[in-house]
Amino acid sequence: MRNEQPETLPEPFAHDDVSYPPGLVRAFLSEYTHPGDLVFDPFAGFGTTLSVAEEMGRRASGIEYDPQRCAYIRSRLRHPEALLQGDARLLSTYALPRIDFTLTSPPYMHRDDPEDPLAAYQEPGRGYDAYLSGLQEIYRHIGLLMNETAVAVIEVSNLKKPGGVTPLAWDIAQAISQILPFQGEVVVHWEPTYGYGYDHSYCLLFTRP
Ligand SMILES: C[S@@+](CC[C@H](N)C(=O)[O-])C[C@H]1O[C@@H](n2cnc3c(N)ncnc32)[C@H](O)[C@@H]1O
Repeated sequence: MRNEQPETLPEPFAHDDVSYPPGLVRAFLSEYTHPGDLVFDPFAGFGTTLSVAEEMGRRASGIEYDPQRCAYIRSRLRHPEALLQGDARLLSTYALPRIDFTLTSPPYMHRDDPEDPLAAYQEPGRGYDAYLSGLQEIYRHIGLLMNETAVAVIEVSNLKKPGGVTPLAWDIAQAISQILPFQGEVVVHWEPTYGYGYDHSYCLLFTRP
């Protein structure tokens, strides 16, 4: 798939683009949703999932931790109230709608990163296992919100840097499959590459418990 964005992000985000292309969202929404369905993104980022959902006549709902990103997402949405500025780790405390489909790319972590990705890298972390457990807890609550036929997709890459490889995609697949039934993966080959050390990522598919 072409790793292409229709617009470059405004400053100060332009050098920090972690978004996937709208084409990826369109492909999954065409396959797994119908007009009117509720599409959820717990790590909304720059709002790709939510804005494509609206463009395709789906309802959008999401959470983003970073206030500046929230303001940007809201400026892109027809229904800015669809985005909660908040913390996915507190998902169980929010009044959220039932979910027909969820697609996200979580904040990534190398095994030895010192910061906590689930605090948007703004706080010291408690290690890789705590990060995976944090994601598990978030998906435990997402599972409770999923409608019977809902599908959850997590887009993630393994990470390579000079010190070695963190098999993040496989570790997240294993962690979340303890919470939600794993239905397999879609491998996406990116041109040009994302720069995480690989030219492809995995879209991990799960269903309701
Ligand atoms: C990889 S980005 C998602 C990019 C998105 N798929 C897109 O295309 O724009 C992950 C996002 O998760 C946010 N984030 C990190 N911790 C969070 C948390 N606890 N709750 C909600 N959002 C969080 C980060 O600020 C970041 O914007």
